[in-house]
Amino acid sequence: MQFYKFSGLFLVLYFTVAFGAYCDKETLHFSGLKKEGTRLYLSGEGFSPSCIKGYREAKPGGRIICQNGTWKGHFPPCIVVNCSGAPPPIQNGRVKRYTGTHGSGIEYECDKFYFLARDSTVQCLFGEWKGMAPFCKDTRCLPKSLSHKKGVSPDIRNLTLSGESLKVQCIEGFVPSGVKPLCSRGVWTEYGVSPCKELNCTVSEVPNGTLTEIGERKVWRWSKFRRARKETFVKVTKGETRSPGHELRMFELMACN
Ligand SMILES: *[C@@H]1O[C@H](CO)[C@@H](O)[C@H](O)[C@H]1NC(C)=O
Ligand SMILES: *[C@@H]1O[C@H](CO)[C@@H](O)[C@H](O)[C@H]1NC(C)=O
Ligand SMILES: *[C@@H]1O[C@H](CO)[C@@H](O)[C@H](O)[C@H]1NC(C)=O
Ligand SMILES: *[C@@H]1O[C@H](CO)[C@@H](O)[C@H](O)[C@H]1NC(C)=O
Ligand SMILES: *[C@@H]1O[C@H](CO)[C@@H](O)[C@H](O)[C@H]1NC(C)=O
Repeated sequence: MQFYKFSGLFLVLYFTVAFGAYCDKETLHFSGLKKEGTRLYLSGEGFSPSCIKGYREAKPGGRIICQNGTWKGHFPPCIVVNCSGAPPPIQNGRVKRYTGTHGSGIEYECDKFYFLARDSTVQCLFGEWKGMAPFCKDTRCLPKSLSHKKGVSPDIRNLTLSGESLKVQCIEGFVPSGVKPLCSRGVWTEYGVSPCKELNCTVSEVPNGTLTEIGERKVWRWSKFRRARKETFVKVTKGETRSPGHELRMFELMACN
């Protein structure tokens, strides 16, 4: 380093004395210009500028020449490149407008039924597309994304449009509960209950006996192993309904409608 400094100083003195004027490449402050190579140039000497990635030569084949102590040539020697490649594509949407100029962005738009859930940060920087592409989200709702969906038909062919309520379709053994979830921008507004409820069983026939169910159950316990139990049965008549899982005594004659 010492030697370099010393020899540099020596060269400066030498050029100043011998040739009157010289140019130092270090004094060329232009963005994108490669700084490698000889530092000092005599009057009349020059070089072809080359540029770093993201820039290109402003005047291809042009030269920068040292003329009596000052640099002459086409300035700035390097210019930022634009984006020539196609902008990044997105799902369920497309590019609406873009120029590809350095620093510019891209305008995207979503397909029908979709909305921009995240804005684009894509920008052309030094010839490359950088940033995050936007995200197009479906405004429609699927029955499978309901959180209360017991007995709801999972058929996803019929999507619910934003602003509309679910056209309730229940699987076998279930009937609409009257609660209709509302779809807004791809998100369901539910009311804490499933849109379908289990079908109850109706006692369709009472046989020549009595159909009963446990009305009351009492358990007496006077030690760990000794206890007595008493159950009271009540009569069930035709036409009454019971929820699924309920058990009737004696005949268990039940028919589901
Ligand atoms: C270079 O500079 C010197 C001193 O300033 C001057 O005498 C000479 O004429 C200049 N030559 C040219 C070619 O400009
Ligand atoms: C980039 O695009 C701008 C605007 O269209 C243009 O002025 C500029 O010269 C272009 N740069 C390059 C390196 O082509
Ligand atoms: C889908 O919607 C159409 C028209 O509203 C209806 O006729 C059809 O039964 C629905 N199918 C399903 C599986 O939801
Ligand atoms: C079944 O019975 C329960 C209780 O009796 C009732 O709350 C419910 O609404 C009934 N369900 C149907 C589908 O009728
Ligand atoms: C009920 O009694 C009648 C007459 O005794 C008989 O004909 C009928 O088969 C009985 N029904 C059942 C379900 O046992």
